[in-house]
Amino acid sequence: MSILNALNISHSFGGRQILEDASFRLLKGEHIGLIGANGEGKSTFLKIITGEMTPEIGTVEWCRHITYGYLDQYSSLGKGKTIKDVLRDAFSHLNDLEAEMLSMYDKMADASDDEIAVLMEDVGEIQEILDMSGYYTIDTKISEYANGLGLADIGLDRDVSELSGGQRSKVLLAKVLLENPMILILDEPTNFLDENHIEWLTNFLQNYENAFILVSHDIPFLTKVTNIIYHLENTNLTRYKGTYEDFLRMYDLKKQQVEQEYKKQQKKIADLEDFVARNKARAATATLARSRQKELDKIERITIAPEKIKPTFNFKSDRSTGKIAISAENLVIGYDLPLTKPVNLTVERNKKIAIKGVNGLGKSTLLKTLLKLIPPIEGKIEHDQFLSVGYFEQEEKCSDKTALQEFWDEFPSLTNAEARSALAKCGLTTEHITSKMKVLSGGENAKVRLCKLMQKESNILVLDEPTNHLDIDAKEELARAVKAFKGTVLLVSHEPEFYNNVVDEVWDVSEWSTKIV
Ligand SMILES: Nc1ncnc2c1ncn2[C@@H]1O[C@H](COP(=O)(O)OP(=O)(O)OP(=O)(O)O)[C@@H](O)[C@H]1O
Ligand SMILES: [Mg+2]
Repeated sequence: MSILNALNISHSFGGRQILEDASFRLLKGEHIGLIGANGEGKSTFLKIITGEMTPEIGTVEWCRHITYGYLDQYSSLGKGKTIKDVLRDAFSHLNDLEAEMLSMYDKMADASDDEIAVLMEDVGEIQEILDMSGYYTIDTKISEYANGLGLADIGLDRDVSELSGGQRSKVLLAKVLLENPMILILDEPTNFLDENHIEWLTNFLQNYENAFILVSHDIPFLTKVTNIIYHLENTNLTRYKGTYEDFLRMYDLKKQQVEQEYKKQQKKIADLEDFVARNKARAATATLARSRQKELDKIERITIAPEKIKPTFNFKSDRSTGKIAISAENLVIGYDLPLTKPVNLTVERNKKIAIKGVNGLGKSTLLKTLLKLIPPIEGKIEHDQFLSVGYFEQEEKCSDKTALQEFWDEFPSLTNAEARSALAKCGLTTEHITSKMKVLSGGENAKVRLCKLMQKESNILVLDEPTNHLDIDAKEELARAVKAFKGTVLLVSHEPEFYNNVVDEVWDVSEWSTKIV
């Protein structure tokens, strides 16, 4: 039985069709991967099924009494709560029950014997629910999830308003998982996780008994946890039973079939047209020509969508630095408290270095410290006198400006045509660049930011999680461009498949941690 049925959904933005007659069903316990290139409409579709957005056409039906938990691609959290408070909110219905039970005990003090008997019965029922739902082990469960996703490293007593975007996403992810809903809806949950947290989540989802819908561009992860693929392409949503690899095979096969049919049909059309053209004028053959024309008119034409233009990335290199681009002596990084033991680091000219870490040590903090954007707790950092930095920050505030404005503000000397052409190379069409940054899809947004970076010459690229939100093609192209860059690279990433063939060295910052792992 379907627990969710979305029927004949169509939706467009500013005249651009995103979904056309798309249908989707979810059965009990199904583990669905919703995939598609950047900007195809995956997040939009999730917003439609969760009721956050109403489709222009179509219906969404949920089975009664279904609970779902939804992790948005960009999540937000209110002020004044600690991480622990937020996680405890996952059990707020149980807290309410406990409060009700305690008030019943209070009432018993002034109640008659009969009343007490009724109250005792109610109390017993509530007690049973609390026991069964593990209410008295909530704290243990919270710590287990918090450890698994690296929240314990941040500190459960931190106010959530002080957290970075990535940390906030982790808190919300932990909360949604703790709620244990009948359906989990996760939009790119691995974007802000380290490798070991992804492993934890993989394991969690593999053993998840309820259903989930997952959007992800992280193919190894997606492959491990899903067994049904919904593919969104050119406004169409298609269901494939099986793993991601099965999907690839079936998709290829289907594409070949359609291409063959298309060719066959094109030939038939050409033959018929030719016949009509040659015979329609002559009286003797005019009737035959008319009947062929009718046949032609009846043909339901197969259309093949043009291949999507793949982005091309290219980082401009500046004059070289000396042999040592950046060096650090007895460096201790952190904010109030030190995060590392003193370490000595050398970033040699033209070396490509990936930085990985498995315990929320603050890789972004390390990058910022090495760039002298924040002061170290201890130690000295030296930059080569010719160091010119191209820095891709992990996240930026979403702005109200259009993509084109955003780009132009930084490069006012470019002509309109030059700006559009630079953005187009990165895979952004006119429709995208006249949209506001905040409504662009995650991948489109990242591409605008990458495009800005590509306009400047630099001799060191500092990239903080550049693959977040990027689809497969864009990731592949980014790997190629980083590899081809003639200069030094410092790269933080949680995707070894992305950086393994790109870098010469991998730094594991967990080795420098002050914490015992
Ligand atoms: N409110 C809006 N107004 C105009 N265009 C929008 C709006 N919201 C989304 N879009 C556009 O609709 C398309 C689909 O966006 P959506 O965020 O659903 O893509 P996605 O498949 O989730 O992509 P990604 O993989 O990059 O996250 C994008 O091209 C986006 O720019
Ligand atoms: Mg999205």
